[in-house]
Amino acid sequence: MKSFTLLTLGFGLVSAAAVEPRATPQTVHLTFHGGPAQYTMAFPADGVKRNTNNNIAVNIIDAPDYNALQNCQFYTAGEKTLVGSITSTGLTQILVGPPQPILAVSCQGFCLPNYSSCYDTHGQYVGDCCNGYCAATKCRPWVNPF
Ligand SMILES: *[C@@H]1O[C@H](CO)[C@@H](O)[C@H](O)[C@H]1NC(C)=O
Repeated sequence: MKSFTLLTLGFGLVSAAAVEPRATPQTVHLTFHGGPAQYTMAFPADGVKRNTNNNIAVNIIDAPDYNALQNCQFYTAGEKTLVGSITSTGLTQILVGPPQPILAVSCQGFCLPNYSSCYDTHGQYVGDCCNGYCAATKCRPWVNPF
């Protein structure tokens, strides 16, 4: 009985620790490319819709530190298709078709940087990787940087 109580308490502490980083939304960095032109945005993943204030026709969005395809909304005037891509150096990108201005963006949710634990020591899933895949309990970049 006593060991059961301790185990329950232990899990309580683990889940509190896992939730902790989500109290402060992480910062999302995005670079929007339209041919040779580009602009960048850095903002918290707090679900707030932010205008880009830029009307270049965007065809590629770099998302080096956030799983933007799953967790961001990109607002456009026209129909669009967003496709995830990974460069040969492991950079995560979103391809926008047809190219068009992105009017606003909002992102919400928490993701894990490279080499952080996607499973905790109790085998509990912690969260999705920002840029890569979860293997042997760690987030691995798509392409090994070395
Ligand atoms: C993960 O590694 C890739 C490839 O080196 C890099 O482009 C990306 O910025 C890294 N992302 C995070 C969240 O650490």
